[in-house]
Amino acid sequence: MHASESPKPLEARRSGPLGGIAAVPGDKSISHRALILGALAVGETRISGLLEADDVLNTAEAMRRLGAQVLHDGLGAWRVHGVGVGGFAEPDGVLDFGNSGTGSRLVMGAVATSPIKVVFTGDASLSRRPMRRVLEPLTLFGAEFTAREGGIMPIALTGAAEPISVDCEIRVASAQVKSAMLLAALNAPGQSRIVQRVLTRDHTERMLKAFGAEIAVTSLPDGGEEIRIVGEKELKPVAIDVPRDPSSAAFPLAAALIVPGSHISIPGILLNPRRTGLIETLLEMGADIKIENVRESGGEKIGDLVVRTSSLKGVRVPAVRAPSMIDEYPILAVIASFAEGRTEMRGLEELRVKESDRLSAICVGLKLCGVRVEEQADGLVVEGCGADGVPGGARVATHMDHRIAMSFLVAGMASREPISVDDVSMIATSFPEFESLMRGLGADFKAPNR
Ligand code: S3P
Repeated sequence: MHASESPKPLEARRSGPLGGIAAVPGDKSISHRALILGALAVGETRISGLLEADDVLNTAEAMRRLGAQVLHDGLGAWRVHGVGVGGFAEPDGVLDFGNSGTGSRLVMGAVATSPIKVVFTGDASLSRRPMRRVLEPLTLFGAEFTAREGGIMPIALTGAAEPISVDCEIRVASAQVKSAMLLAALNAPGQSRIVQRVLTRDHTERMLKAFGAEIAVTSLPDGGEEIRIVGEKELKPVAIDVPRDPSSAAFPLAAALIVPGSHISIPGILLNPRRTGLIETLLEMGADIKIENVRESGGEKIGDLVVRTSSLKGVRVPAVRAPSMIDEYPILAVIASFAEGRTEMRGLEELRVKESDRLSAICVGLKLCGVRVEEQADGLVVEGCGADGVPGGARVATHMDHRIAMSFLVAGMASREPISVDDVSMIATSFPEFESLMRGLGADFKAPNR
């Protein structure tokens, strides 16, 4: 959001029962990657089901500014005419990625081995987020950068004129960093080897294979993975049908679980095993979620979810599960508040460097809503309100974070008193249809009295 725009608060009131079909938009991670790989391929990449949210539109614009032709044919339907690996042109101005960590970090990787200078900027939230985690490993290829104190945006990156291949280990549990390295390796001569100790989402690896890259992934005895990728190979365009986003589906799913008498279906959801940690956790909590019609689409597993209101019990969520549900902790914390008993979540240090410090934002918000919650350095303990219900009756600060906004609106749909959030404008970064889709299921949202 730009400083000139005024924040848009919204209030959620006890709603339901919810019913109907929640057709959530395309997966954000896959949408970014489809545009970037399309821009690096030779020929035309056709994309359907692309997420048309601000984050992804900023990536589309960045691809145009780097020289690719990016055409919008109709809802979700896009065509990209790529420039080929190493073919990016130097953009004549600054690339603004708005709120998007994924878009900016992936594009840093994609340009790091081309002899061009690119300046990256973003909104106030993105400008607080750490970028050294991706920039420093990219210097191994020969790239150079200048950042503000603390390694934050704006950042000027000079891609390597004579890139070299790398052999390195990713030090943070981040798919963004891993993906940036893989995209950089595409234009480095010879073979690069990238090791990750923690398994994060693998959409880049899968899509690179589909585009014909020479990439091989091998499991390591310690549970990690080694990725070998050969650079300077031409990428060949493929048709990509983007599955629906499980991280967006989490909101109607959560609402259906906690609003009494609800029964909804959520079709065509991406079920990549590195993205399904929330579903796994909710099933352990006793959620009535049926996964039907499991099928494959474009190299990814997808399926339909049928969700009914459930009595839930608190659980311990192991730290090893964090990468497979990293964006789902805010909504899990909300669901846990409506459960019976205590839910403990560990291994969440990465939540402090998302669109906001999510550990803190969740804790402060839930406390205001009358929930007993403990914030730890890398964890969260929520005491479920069970049959007493979540009191609510609060205005929650969202800190320019779309997932904090959506999580507390869902909470307000089942709390005793309404819950409002200070600003819903950031929801457009990932899920522009959120408000109308939730209303269609039965959500009672209204503009609050200020
Ligand atoms: C993403 C990776 C995750 C996630 C983000 C999307 C991706 O970030 O939080 O929303 O598409 O690679 P990290 O890689 O920083 O954990």
